[in-house]
Amino acid sequence: MTAADAIVPAVFQQRRWWLVLLALWAAGAWILLDAHVEDIRVQSVQIATEGARNMFRMVVLTRSWNASHGGIYVPVTPKTQPNPYLPIARRDVTTNDGQSLTLINPAYMTRLIAEMAESDSGAIFRLTSLRPVRPENAADPWEKKSLEAFESGILEVISIEPDAHGRQLRYMAPLKVEKPCMACHARQGYQIGDIRGGISVSQHFGPIEAAITASINQTQLSFVAVFGITALLGWLLLELLRKRWFELAGNIQQLKTTRSELVQSEKMASLGRMVAGFAHELNTPVGVAVGAVSHNAETLLRIDRMLSVEEVNEDLLRHELAGLRESGDLALANLRRAASLVQSFKRTSVDQTSEQFRTFNMKELISDVLFAMQSTLKKLPIQVAVQCPEKFELHGMPGLVQQLLTNLVMNAVQHAFDAGKRPGTIVIKVTHNAPNVRLEFSDDGKGMDANQLARIFEPFYTTRRGEGGSGLGLYICYNIVTTQLGGTIVCHSQPETGCQFDIQFSARLNAKIEEGTP
Ligand code: HEC
Repeated sequence: MTAADAIVPAVFQQRRWWLVLLALWAAGAWILLDAHVEDIRVQSVQIATEGARNMFRMVVLTRSWNASHGGIYVPVTPKTQPNPYLPIARRDVTTNDGQSLTLINPAYMTRLIAEMAESDSGAIFRLTSLRPVRPENAADPWEKKSLEAFESGILEVISIEPDAHGRQLRYMAPLKVEKPCMACHARQGYQIGDIRGGISVSQHFGPIEAAITASINQTQLSFVAVFGITALLGWLLLELLRKRWFELAGNIQQLKTTRSELVQSEKMASLGRMVAGFAHELNTPVGVAVGAVSHNAETLLRIDRMLSVEEVNEDLLRHELAGLRESGDLALANLRRAASLVQSFKRTSVDQTSEQFRTFNMKELISDVLFAMQSTLKKLPIQVAVQCPEKFELHGMPGLVQQLLTNLVMNAVQHAFDAGKRPGTIVIKVTHNAPNVRLEFSDDGKGMDANQLARIFEPFYTTRRGEGGSGLGLYICYNIVTTQLGGTIVCHSQPETGCQFDIQFSARLNAKIEEGTP
């Protein structure tokens, strides 16, 4: 993994995260499918139950009709024999033309219809009771349990029960004693509202189950297909995003490299300007000193000549000696100045290049910076006023503050004063706003509009591209203050009102060598 790839989120770096996503997606799909399958099952059973319930209602209806007539007469056939359990005198009658009829009570009718239904549709229904009049009507264990449940108020019982040929959907509901029933059942001691028994409806569950299974299989298949397709598409999408991310990371890294190279070369260029400035400054005092010393050499020669004649003119000699002293002083003063220039140069250049921590005096630092820029400044109608406490010691990397100030001054000269075409004043004011240092840098130059103001700290933003502006000066300032000094920089400006930079940073200048983005 390269440094550039570090900005790519972990999710895109390593595909194993995608497996986690896939697992989550699969788990979600599985839960959904499971719920769906359960739904199909419940619904199918509900539909089948509704069928059984309807059958029950139909049977109850025909029975009520029968009961409302106190039983009905039908011709006696081999299949429809008189009911031995029906102890009614008028059970068997003969019509005027000799046809034998027998009375069919509801239970008997139900049984006869049930026989037909079973051979017809496979649905079995049975009339049962806990206390059957006819022993064959006795309840089987499941029916018995259901009938007992009805006694305790339950309205219907549904369940899937195993049987000899597979499984059965069983439905059962109670039959209550109504007024017409009393004609035949009062003698067993029943009263209206009692539960006389029940009708159980049983259906083979096999065909229902087959339909359910088919439906479930189909659902599963479509789920798997949809899951597969979405997972595949998702994976492809992630793959695409991943590729994009890596491309982006590469581009950003390249940009960063280019930018830091440019920043570095800008630093070097400013160092170069400084060296040139110093060399130029050094020229004058050294020249004067050389002039004074060579003037002295000539004076010494004249004195020597004076002393070689017999009579020495004392006045003349004193005059020459005075001249000697004078130019000696001049040479000394200029050499001192040269020495202090060299000192200042040494400080500045070491600070600029070594990035070392040391304790430094803020005022001295400002004058070193202005001194280094003097060759530029003194040719221009620009004044610089410094307001700084005399003994203001800071600990940190002075090079950073030098560079900050140099860039601010250069920026003001170039932009606020149109490279010196406009006269004006720069004010540098330093105050100790514990625990911070507050540096206010202002000029009374031409100022900026809101558009320019919004972009001044952007790298490569410049209004003087054609005239050699790199657009990095204030970007470097921004970086120095925000990332290297850990402080803040704000700029206020309006057209024709000059420009004020308000900079604050900790008095202990913490330096992290890293670049930030505005
Ligand atoms: C015409 C007479 C008659 C009427 C009316 C009648 N039943 Fe019955 N019922 C019988 C007879 C007889 C049996 C017993 C033998 C059989 O036919 O299965 C019986 C059996 C039953 C059984 C089956 C359990 C058993 O005891 O063997 C139930 C339950 C039942 N009757 C409920 C009713 C209800 C509820 C009504 C009113 C809607 C009703 N009957 C009306 C004559 C009648």
